Amino acid sequence: MATQPETDQDFPIRVNFVCLGNICRSPLAESVFRALVEQAGVAAYFEINSSGTGQWHVGEQADARMRQTAQAHDLSLEDHRAQQFQADDLAAHDHIFTMDKANLKDVLALDGDDAYGHKVRLFREFDPEPESYQVPDPYYGGTDGFENVYAIVERTARMLLHRLVEEHDLEDEVTALPAADA
Ligand code: 4NP
Repeated sequence: MATQPETDQDFPIRVNFVCLGNICRSPLAESVFRALVEQAGVAAYFEINSSGTGQWHVGEQADARMRQTAQAHDLSLEDHRAQQFQADDLAAHDHIFTMDKANLKDVLALDGDDAYGHKVRLFREFDPEPESYQVPDPYYGGTDGFENVYAIVERTARMLLHRLVEEHDLEDEVTALPAADA
């Protein structure tokens, strides 16, 4: 696959959320963050994506339990198809937010020249209540785990949007910034 060149343009801000399978946590983070960006009126400034470090579920829909949880919160994951994070994605994105520390390690392992570490962060660094700094993997658990993931992702994505608006000087472009702690 051809390496995508890094652009020196500021926009769009290219964001990739990363988990293991790209069927539970990161598709939800992508969807929640996209909805917040739309609410804030700055969708044109962002390109939002998600991926998994593993290849097992490539091409599949999001997990049915995650789709159901998303739907209960008026979000749709129906169009999502899982994709695997590739080394080229390091150059192709401005921000890479991983759901847990294993994902962080696996993404950084693809950074052979140690050139992109500054782009890669744990998503829950932005969580006002970060606990372990990891979004727990709900895959092998019960329904409660999915609702818990939603709560974590929602409050973290709100804070993340505030931080990225600040970081990219978008304050004047925002029409209605969703509350950081709603
Ligand atoms: P995700 O959840 O990383 O949040 O998409 C998982 C999905 C699949 C598996 C593990 C976690 N799996 O082992 O197949």
